[in-house]
Formats: sequence, C-alpha cells, structure tokens
Amino acid sequence: MLRIVVLISGRGSNMEALIRARAAGDLPADIVAVISNRADAAGLATAAASGIATAVVPHGAFSDRAAFDAELARAIDAFRPGLVVLAGFMRILTPAFVTHYAGRLMNIHPSLLPAFPGLRTHERALEAGCKVHGATVHFVTADLDHGPIIAQAAVPVRPGEDAAQLAKRVLALEHVVYPRAVAWFARGELVVENGVVRVTDPAARQLVMA
Ligand code: GRF
Repeated sequence: MLRIVVLISGRGSNMEALIRARAAGDLPADIVAVISNRADAAGLATAAASGIATAVVPHGAFSDRAAFDAELARAIDAFRPGLVVLAGFMRILTPAFVTHYAGRLMNIHPSLLPAFPGLRTHERALEAGCKVHGATVHFVTADLDHGPIIAQAAVPVRPGEDAAQLAKRVLALEHVVYPRAVAWFARGELVVENGVVRVTDPAARQLVMA
C-alpha cells in the first residue's frame, strides 16, 4: 500500500478531502503523516482527530531554506513515504528538496497553470478578465508552480463575482480533483512522457468542469 505524507501550512481542506477519499475506499493508500511548517495550522488537529501522526517543522527555527528543507526531508523520510502531497504548503522548496522527491511530489495550485503561478491567483484571474479559472494538480519540479500537469478543474467566471466567491467555487472542485489524481498515482496509473502526464485508464477524466 502506498504511504503518503501530506504537507500543510493552514486549514488543510484538501488534506481533509484526501482523508475522506481514503475513508470512502476511493484512495488505495495510507496517509501516514501530516507535517506542517506552522504549529498553528488548523489542519493538524483535523489530522490528529483522524488518527494520523502529525509533526511540526517550524521554518522560523532555521537559518536558511536549505537547513529547513533538510530537516523537513528528515521528518518526512522518517515515515518512508512513496508520495509526498503538498496541500496548501506555503514554502518555496529548494531544488535539492525537489530533486530528492522527484516523481513522487505533487501539488495543487489554485489556477489553470501555466497561467498565474504564485500568489493571489483568484484576484489576478479576475483582474485579467478571465472567463474560465480553476486549479491544477501537478508534479513538482524546481520551477515554482510548474511541472507536469496531472489534472485540472475549471469553473466559469461569473460576471460581478469577487475573489472570495470564485475561490470558494474553485476549492470545491480542488476537493474532487486532488483525491482523484492521488488515487491514480496510488494505482500506478500515471505515465509521464516528454513532460505530459497520461493516465493509463482510458476512462480517466483529467479535466473536471463545474
Ligand atoms: C488551496 O487553494 C490550494 O490550491 C492552495 O492552497 C490552498 C490550500 O487550502 N495550494 P487548504 O489548506 O487545502 O484548505
């Protein structure tokens, strides 16, 4: 059974979606630990309530990114994961860290990549007048918010809505698409060819639309 470590920094609703998928029998994997860089991340209590091991590696305690990432990797590797899932983990990772987990590090980003890497994605999509917006699950590479795209979720932008309303509708689909993508990985169904991700199950839907 695939062993998963989830990294969070905050509320952890995507982590919760993974826990729910596992409980429902839709995710053939064990979530063996949830690790946060912030002791006050609300998701830690949720994970503990589900009987999952938790740990905190506070980034402020380290002199630089490399030292933090080295300790984070040590904490992660103690749980011997086959996959590390970033779920609202708000730290930029060093190339050494990303290389260490090459091919087994996934992220969800709240935009239709390659549009809007970085922060304030919903605001920026509205400012750009986008008519469609969404979220992307991708393998992590050293290039921030890039890397092979595993699945995307798209919502139409409604005239007059604000960033919070848009974010809420995108988040609801994140909770659908992320467990699905992780389940494909767990079943060994993801193939990456020339940077393009294909799912071996021909019925798999790599695009979810509202
Ligand atoms: C989500 O919007 C995700 O796309 C982004 O950070 C947010 C995390 O939310 N990477 P949550 O902590 O999973 O609720």
